[in-house]
Amino acid sequence: MKKTTAAITAVGGYVPEFVLSNKVLETMVDTNDEWITTRTGIKERRILKEENAGTSYMAIKAAEDLLQKRGIDASEIDFVLVATATPDLPVASTAAYVASEIGAVNAFAYDLQAACSSFLYGMSTAASYIESGRYKKVLVIGADKMSSIIDYTDRTTCIIFGDGAGAALFEPNEEGLGLQDEYLRSDGIGRQFLKIDAGGSILPASEETVKNKQHYVYQDGKSVFKFAVSNMADVSALIMERNNLTHEDVQWLVPHQANKRIIDATANRMGVEPKKVMINIDRYGNTTSATLPLLLYDYEKQLKKGDNLIFAAFGGGFTWGSIYLKWAYNS
Ligand code: UT7
Repeated sequence: MKKTTAAITAVGGYVPEFVLSNKVLETMVDTNDEWITTRTGIKERRILKEENAGTSYMAIKAAEDLLQKRGIDASEIDFVLVATATPDLPVASTAAYVASEIGAVNAFAYDLQAACSSFLYGMSTAASYIESGRYKKVLVIGADKMSSIIDYTDRTTCIIFGDGAGAALFEPNEEGLGLQDEYLRSDGIGRQFLKIDAGGSILPASEETVKNKQHYVYQDGKSVFKFAVSNMADVSALIMERNNLTHEDVQWLVPHQANKRIIDATANRMGVEPKKVMINIDRYGNTTSATLPLLLYDYEKQLKKGDNLIFAAFGGGFTWGSIYLKWAYNS
């Protein structure tokens, strides 16, 4: 009997309308467009300004976009996974709310938190459910409202992050398309370099933690960069090697959008030409869990059935990995 694989059959996306440009950031903190552009590749990012709107607001919009494009009813979905580092609420599952709001009345739902690798890990989870034969339609949404945890007086972090959401539907495939291989890693040593100190079980929120700005993202950029650049390149090269792929066999690199220099180093190591590298960091910045699905959303029209895609991500924790996927449709 032929093996069932898990293919992406539709994608959707959403970014907020409000654009925060490097020029505007120059008026907020001691920075400049030239520094941001050369060090990160970012020109602008989107910020969710709607009142009382959290990550679910964008996740719902991305999911609705996907459902409309795929032409299916939400009641057909078996499982909704929301990959996010910025859930609506610390305890209640954002995915459960999203599933109800889009009308996925027959689905179960939960969140997955692996910082910037959340969507990559979510792809693995989705594929496992499909390959096992247990479920037929799995919706994976990567969404983050990074502006809710960023200190806009800290120039080392506020220039990097943006808000957004992307979604991908996974379904069974009998032609051998979809997820082919994965290599996922983590290392708790990274916790000290990229974190939010307060609001968790170690240091619950207090007047003191608010006063000390401990609810914002802290990043030791230099250290994270060092780990990210070598690990993302290593896993991408490894997954090519063990699947006997040369750079000619790879049509697209789909890399997490944290820093253009990390993306370039990964592409170099793989020997993949720049025109095969998906990029939108210039327009969206680092949207954490949303970078990978937003790339698929932006590049969907250029993707062809049978294309070999290499996904790679690196994030807080540390968490990182690479996935080899064969694209399953022409749009
Ligand atoms: O997505 C999750 C994983 N995250 C990542 O992969 C991010 C990895 N790290 C990075 O992308 C980079 O480290 C950053 C973009 C965060 C920083 O770039 P960098 O080249 O590592 O800069 P740096 O931190 O070494 O700082 C270089 C200089 C410093 O000045 P001095 O000490 O050389 O005088 C900083 O104070 O640049 C200064 N600087 C800035 N200058 C203008 C730091 N931030 C800024 C800024 N504008 N926004």
